[in-house]
Amino acid sequence: MIAPKHIPVMLNQSINAMKIVPNGTYVDATFGFGGHSRKILDALDSDGRLYAIDKDTYAINMIREDIISDKRFTLKHGCFSELENFSKEWGIHGSINGILFDLGVSSHHLDEAGRGFSFNKNGPIDMRFDQSSGISACEWLETVDEQTLSHVIWKYGDERYSRRIARAIVYQREQEKISDTGQLAKIIDKAMPRNEKHKHNATRTFQAIRIFMNKELEVLKDVLSNSYNILAPKGRLVLLTYHSLEDRVIKNFLAVTDENISTPRNLPIKNEFLKKMFNIIAKSIKPDKDEIDLNPRSRSAKLNILEKANEDYV
Ligand SMILES: C[S@@+](CC[C@H](N)C(=O)[O-])C[C@H]1O[C@@H](n2cnc3c(N)ncnc32)[C@H](O)[C@@H]1O
Repeated sequence: MIAPKHIPVMLNQSINAMKIVPNGTYVDATFGFGGHSRKILDALDSDGRLYAIDKDTYAINMIREDIISDKRFTLKHGCFSELENFSKEWGIHGSINGILFDLGVSSHHLDEAGRGFSFNKNGPIDMRFDQSSGISACEWLETVDEQTLSHVIWKYGDERYSRRIARAIVYQREQEKISDTGQLAKIIDKAMPRNEKHKHNATRTFQAIRIFMNKELEVLKDVLSNSYNILAPKGRLVLLTYHSLEDRVIKNFLAVTDENISTPRNLPIKNEFLKKMFNIIAKSIKPDKDEIDLNPRSRSAKLNILEKANEDYV
């Protein structure tokens, strides 16, 4: 089988952001089809190491020979929220020089009808990154109550017509089984009182269900909160985000890590004694026009670069 085409987003900027030391240890937390991993390996010498993770067994199985046979490379199927455990298993806990997160869906997820992420391609409503565990979005939609559904659509899709859409889905599933993405998109479309500008009416609802089903924000929160211990001093977190909910998770994380979270909050400790855990190197860098013209899917990307503050910055 041939791996699907996925154009890595902000490739040079994100790899430069990792500030790669040739004999360093790096993690690609969202391997996908290896575009970023390959570039990291190019920057490493024979002592350098790259560990990669992906939740999607399809991506894992599609790995190309040139990467899998590279002795400096290790790939694991799993969720990046488990990175603290994986790093202990790999013997690199506390000594990782950089972790890359290229969040969200790959082109394969959107292009392949069978994955059920796209309202443009008719297929089963699945929407799981990891099809080997949990239930599909279709199964969830069969039983979820109207109020929960409306809350999910509002919270993760920022959809103001969430109540109408939830009502329409619950009504329609009593008439017939809702099993494919085309059917679901039509129900959402009909429930909308007016058309969305510049996007399909189902965009926000599909995004909401996907984020909810994959617990995308929760796992991001978890991995960020463990990242300080996992990284080496001055280790970097490089994050490519694609929507404002991910940006908000990072913003909230930074608000907490600006103080030492292990210090009881109510104690009258002066700021100079609190430890700053991460320095912001850069925030919300966008792809340039040439990249967006070449790869329209990059248009919503934002690159964020954080660096673990010096241990002695106390
Ligand atoms: C945008 S793609 C990455 C593309 C990759 N950088 C490349 O150049 O080929 C995101 C990948 O992250 C994976 N993913 C999403 N959430 C994950 C998680 N919590 N843990 C591990 N992998 C995840 C998805 O399955 C998908 O393959």
